[in-house]
Parts: sequence; C-alpha cells; structure tokens
Amino acid sequence: MSEYDVVVIGGGPGGYIAAIRAAQNGLKTACIEGRGTLGGTCTNVGCIPSKALLHASEMFDDANHSFAKIGIKVGGVELDLPAMMAYKDDTVKGLTRGIEFLFKKNKIDYVKGWGTFKDKNTIEVKAPDGSTSTVTGKSIVIATGSEPASIPGVTIDENRIVSSTGAIALGEVPKHLVVIGGGVIGLELGSVWQRLGSKVTVVEFLDRIVPGVDDEVAKEFDKILRKQGFVIKTGTKVTKVEQTNAGLKVSVEPAKGGDAEVLEADYVLVSVGRKAYTDGLGLDVVGVKATDRGLVITDDHWRTNVPGIYAIGDVIAGPMLAHKAEEEGAAVADLIAGKVGHVNYNAIPGVIYTSPEVASVGKTEEELKKDGIEYKVGKFPFMANAKAKVGLHTEGFVKILADSRTDRVLGVHIIGADAGNLIAEAVLAMEFDASAEDIAMTCHAHPTLSESMKEAALGVSGRTLNF
Ligand code: FAD
Ligand code: NAI
Repeated sequence: MSEYDVVVIGGGPGGYIAAIRAAQNGLKTACIEGRGTLGGTCTNVGCIPSKALLHASEMFDDANHSFAKIGIKVGGVELDLPAMMAYKDDTVKGLTRGIEFLFKKNKIDYVKGWGTFKDKNTIEVKAPDGSTSTVTGKSIVIATGSEPASIPGVTIDENRIVSSTGAIALGEVPKHLVVIGGGVIGLELGSVWQRLGSKVTVVEFLDRIVPGVDDEVAKEFDKILRKQGFVIKTGTKVTKVEQTNAGLKVSVEPAKGGDAEVLEADYVLVSVGRKAYTDGLGLDVVGVKATDRGLVITDDHWRTNVPGIYAIGDVIAGPMLAHKAEEEGAAVADLIAGKVGHVNYNAIPGVIYTSPEVASVGKTEEELKKDGIEYKVGKFPFMANAKAKVGLHTEGFVKILADSRTDRVLGVHIIGADAGNLIAEAVLAMEFDASAEDIAMTCHAHPTLSESMKEAALGVSGRTLNF
C-alpha cells in the first residue's frame, strides 16, 4: 500500500494541475489515471486534437480560397487526410508525454489504472493488466471529468454515429455530416469537416445556436456560418437516427411540433452536451453526494460533503472548460496545503475556435437586462481595423459592456479573427476591476487587432476615433 498526502483521481487539466501544485506545495502526491495517457479529455480527445484539425483545415481552406486573393497562386491543393490525422496524433502524443515529464520533474507518482473508493482515504486501482493495488491519501481530489451525452433514439457507435471522439478520427471526409446540437463542439468540428469538403447540416433544438453566448454575437455568428455553407436548422429536434444500407436516416421535426422530415447523411455527430463521469468510482461507497445529473456537489471551496474529499473540473458544476478545471486544480491544492485557494468565476473566458473565433468574458447583454443592471455599450467593427483589413479578416466586432454608473467593465464579447487571444486583455481588465476608460486610455500597438478593443472601450463614452 502506498501512502500520500494527496491522491488525485483523474489526470486531465484539473487533475494534473492539482497534482503539480500539490507537489509544489511540498505534499507527497499521486495521480491515478485510467486511460493510459495523461492530459484527460482535453489533451487526448478534446481541446488539442480538435484545435489541431481546426488549424490544419483552416490552412487547407486558406490555400483553396484565400491565397489567390493576396496574389499567391497555388495549383493542385490536395487533402492528405491520413497525414493530417498523423499530425494531430503527433501533437497529442507530444503534449501527453510532456505532462509525464512534468510529473517526473515534480516527483509525482503516476499510478496507471482505474480508481475506486474503498473508504474515504483508500482507493483501489485496477491496472491495465488486471492487477489491483491500493493507494491511500489524507486528502483525495476527484477530477474524473466528463463524457459525451446523447439523446433518446440516437445511439453513438463511434463509427457512423459519432461523438466528438469519433469525429476527430474519421477515416474519410463525410459527404453529408448531420450535427445534432449547435453548440461549441458541433460548430467547431462541423467547421473542420465543412472546410475539408463535407456538406454540414446543424440541427439545433433551441431557436438559436450557441446558447449562453451574447445574442447579438450569436446572430452574427449564425449569419457568417451560413455564408460559409453551413445549413442550420434551429428550433428543430432529432427524434431518431436509423442505419440503413443506403446510409443514415435522421428524423427531424420542429421543436414546437409540426411536420417531420428525414435527412439523409453518411455521418452524424452527436454534440448535445457532456455529462459528469463518475462510473465505477464508488461515490456511493463513501457517501459523496451528487446531483440528479451526476455532478459531484461541492461547496465554494471544492469540498464535498465527506471531509477530506474534494472535487474539481468537469465533474462539478460550472462551465466545462479546461482552464476552469486548471484554475480549480491549482486552487484546491493550495487550499489543501493550508494556503488561500481562489477562483474568480466572473472572469472565466470562453472561446469558440471557429473562423472567425468567438470569445467572451463576463455578462451578456441579456444577463445584464435580466439582473436589472444599467449598462452602456461600446462597439467596434473589424471592418474599420487596419490589421484586420490587411489580413482580410474584416468580419465581426468587439463589444464592451460597462456599468452606466461606474464605467466598470461587466462583459466583453468578440467575434472576429484571433478573438481567443484578444479576450485575454478583457479578462485581465475584469480581474483588475478596470473601467472602460482604463482600456481606452491604454496605448495599443498599431496596426494590431487589439486596437479594436481600445476603440470599443472608447465607444462606451461615444468617443470612437476610427469609425
Ligand atoms: P478530463 O479532462 O475529462 O479528465 C478526467 C480524466 O480522469 C480522464 O482522463 C479520465 O480517463 C480519468 N478518469 C475518470 N475516472 C477515473 C477513475 N475512476 N480512475 C482513474 N482515472 C479516471 N475546453 C477548453 O477550455 N478549450 C477547448 O478548446 C476545448 N475543446 C474541447 C473539444 C472537445 C472535442 C471536447 C470534448 C472538450 C473540449 N473542451 C475544451 C473541454 C475540456 O476538454 C474539459 O473541460 C476538460 O478536459 C476538463 O478537465 P477535467 O480535468 O475536469 O476532466
Ligand atoms: P454545448 O452545451 O456547447 O451545446 C449543445 C447544444 O446542443 C446546445 O446548443 C443545445 O441546445 C443543443 N441540444 C441539446 N439537446 C438537443 C437535441 N435533442 N436536439 C438538438 N439540439 C440539442 O455542448 P457540446 O457542444 O456538446 O460541448 C460540450 C462541452 O464541451 C461544452 O460545455 C463546452 O464547454 C466544452 N467544449 C469547449 C470547447 C471550447 O472551449 N472551445 C470546445 C468543445 C467543447
């Protein structure tokens, strides 16, 4: 039996960061991971492989459509899908190995296998060869993440009817990909295959795509995606998907009732959200409480109802994002070490890595209206930004929402090229409780896309200069 100060179950962004910080804090630490590699959903089948394919497919699309516009003639652009997949796999491999190196560097024991609670301090680990061992910890951190959800009438087989995991590893370009769910995964992976040549139809239950994103941004996003060739059916639900010799038959009907329709497809991507993963963990053995939907319940310091057992990341409430899991991982490890552990949930950015990207932090206009908060809006279109013009990335805008009374930045929403990097400035501004004027008075290099942030901030007080 091995004894530790901290045992982390799950080696994803939440778990591996918790383990590293715990070790940095001088605690003897082990991390149990069952999938055979570290990095969790994010590095193995999530953020990283999807971004690799988004990058590669964007290059392909640029070579086909954009190069000629700036005077570069390229003939015979061809897709080598196996090579693109190999590039994606190599990227993943390099990063998962990198985390193993970090574990060695920080003297963390990487325990390979699936963990199950035996009691509140003891975890039994089943190794890949079937053998079992026992690990004990004074503190246990549950960081077991999430898995894809589905809907009634649709069974994911990871062959033709795929979750994101299957969709990042297809052996051919679908002729017609039907995406169920117009959220982040559906639109990112839909973009990959659309750029590589698929017809993509997105079926979304609600009357808009990307719920949670600022309405005005979502409308612009919808318009741009349709221009790129996406077919988007909002207010529509899938009732079943049937496999026939001729392919897949996807039955859809208006969400509010009406005539049904059958879409024919060769692949279906199910992207209707993810659910907490606690299978086989033995939460019931120790009495750790979870919600009806399986999310482990914690207080605001990631403590479950069982003393000494903590939970972080996708397995608890909040946005299912790698950086949110990482923040919680570092904070809980500090807390366990007797230090202050803190996460500012008001300043967690969200990025959709499509083209253009969509990025946001803080409140949307709809949320501010609902909360009865008076606000001012500053907006600046990339059409009026010199660097955007140079790069032919003129779609979209920056929108800053600031408190009418105090000018404090309450939310920033960007749709445009490199929005994912641009939002960092807004996150920092919100972390420092900046006013729109603070951003407006900050010198931004010219010509950069970031000048649009300054201009939008100037716009909050009606002083935009270049539009
Ligand atoms: P996970 O990463 O899910 O890690 C949990 C780990 O625990 C897994 O490796 C699992 O094998 C292991 N485990 C589970 N049970 C046990 C057990 N009993 N014993 C041992 N090990 C166990 N987020 C972003 O912020 N940016 C993105 O661009 C982004 N892109 C994404 C793209 C896709 C296609 C998907 C599916 C997700 C994406 N996400 C993205 C979300 C991100 O992957 C998750 O929010 C993040 O991985 C959560 O981290 P975690 O550590 O909580 O859980
Ligand atoms: P999501 O919650 O983003 O989107 C799911 C969509 O499916 C919603 O629009 C929802 O209304 C719709 N839906 C639900 N039931 C439906 C039905 N029966 N028929 C049609 N539509 C239906 O979930 P998604 O895209 O599966 O992603 C899961 C999680 O992974 C997200 O929470 C996200 O945070 C994370 N992720 C983050 C990424 C990023 O940060 N760039 C990239 C990919 C995933």
